[in-house]
Amino acid sequence: MRRSLRGALRCLGVKVCRRSVLLVVLLWLASWLFLNGLVFVHRNMFSDFCTDDKSKEILQRVCAEYQQGVLTGDLCEDLCVAGRVEYKRCLYYENGKKVMAASWRGVPVVLKSKLENFSSYEALALLEYQDAAGGPGGEEELSPLDVVFYATLEIKNSLGLETGTNLTLPRLWGQKLKENERTYSRAELASLWALLQQEEYTFLRVLQDLTHHVAKILGSCGHFYAVEYLAAGHAWDQHIFSLEELTLSPSPSPWSGQEKITARDMVPRVALSFLEMVEHFENDFSHSLHLCDIKPENFAIRKDLTVVAIDVDMAFFEPKMRDILEQNCTSDNDCNFFDCISKCDKTKNRCGPKRKNSNLQVICEKIFRPWFSPTLLGAKAGLPLQVELQRAVQECAEIDSGEDVKRTRAVRKQLQDLLVELIQEDSGNQGEGQEHKMRRVHTALNF
Ligand SMILES: *[C@@H]1O[C@H](CO)[C@@H](O)[C@H](O)[C@H]1NC(C)=O
Ligand SMILES: *[C@@H]1O[C@H](CO)[C@@H](O)[C@H](O)[C@H]1NC(C)=O
Ligand SMILES: *[C@@H]1O[C@H](CO)[C@@H](O)[C@H](O)[C@H]1NC(C)=O
Repeated sequence: MRRSLRGALRCLGVKVCRRSVLLVVLLWLASWLFLNGLVFVHRNMFSDFCTDDKSKEILQRVCAEYQQGVLTGDLCEDLCVAGRVEYKRCLYYENGKKVMAASWRGVPVVLKSKLENFSSYEALALLEYQDAAGGPGGEEELSPLDVVFYATLEIKNSLGLETGTNLTLPRLWGQKLKENERTYSRAELASLWALLQQEEYTFLRVLQDLTHHVAKILGSCGHFYAVEYLAAGHAWDQHIFSLEELTLSPSPSPWSGQEKITARDMVPRVALSFLEMVEHFENDFSHSLHLCDIKPENFAIRKDLTVVAIDVDMAFFEPKMRDILEQNCTSDNDCNFFDCISKCDKTKNRCGPKRKNSNLQVICEKIFRPWFSPTLLGAKAGLPLQVELQRAVQECAEIDSGEDVKRTRAVRKQLQDLLVELIQEDSGNQGEGQEHKMRRVHTALNF
């Protein structure tokens, strides 16, 4: 960029050059005008929707319905009465989907709902049946067991898990429901139902108790739920996650008082957390979890350097993954679903239901390889440990999960060992063993 500008300046005096410079300037002006026009049109088309006024209006409607007893949740009191939820700005609005930034008791959160109005969600059939049956004593008739049953069904449906199998996920959740032997009010059930109709909520809620590698749901009010605010990684930054965003936040960082972690020390720690996440998603749930859209923007890190999957729209459990992959095909190319690929069986013209690559392979290819590439490491790239790491990452990126499990495990282990070694080398082995900070438990739906 600078060089071309200098070149242009140098030839300013020459006649031939003058015309091309003029052309460049004109072209630049034209594209500037065009882009501005686009932004202007875009703003005018969508400004009605992602504005502070509109957001506040939506929240006011939520609170009005809370006061009428239509909906409820553990966030409602703070949002509508105590004024402990401070609205910051609108982040996104499209087709009713509303995402806002806010601060809850000083903690930055994201408030989300797939539809802006509570009434737009389907009502719980159980409640309507009661209405039809009439009778003021209706509320007592809803046994917690019914709720477990319906909620489990809804969860299985939405996550694409076949019914009838031995499922640990909803079972865990259902267990809590049962233990907590109490009846649920209409508002509670209606709110729960609105939340369960949002795939992201269901997904995150089910995984909350099982892993700390997904965004935490901190609370809810009606159809809106609050998720911890984390800054996403970015592809254009060589560090992917910027340290400044972590250190600028107001609450004390876990390493304060200890050694200062620089961006370079941070990388192997975050990479290690990526590996832990992969292991978790593959083995620790009743079905493996496939991430089909792996890029820096879909992950974030917490202050303790845990990697968190923040966009789970493209995450699928094994049964749903099989459904998605099993398509008609004429070549292997037809069997690619973003980062999840399988092979085309040419005799049947069907894609294999089993995913051919793995989360680990894609993370190595798309995140680790650019991250640990010699050009980005600079002077450090020649160090023996770094060279070994680059080799391991390369090997990992080329794994075909069709081949034996032993090799995959060996590659993963090698990566892990190298990263640990790197951390010890960098920091002289201090500041380890930080416990995760106590989690705030989301109570409204913590049956
Ligand atoms: C939500 O409700 C408000 C007020 O009842 C209404 O004006 C608006 O059109 C509704 N929005 C949607 C998407 O249904
Ligand atoms: C379901 O899993 C639990 C715990 O893993 C086990 O005890 C139980 O026998 C299993 N039930 C069936 C039907 O497979
Ligand atoms: C896939 O192939 C089967 C049999 O070859 C055919 O019956 C079916 O309609 C095809 N499905 C699609 C979506 O093309």
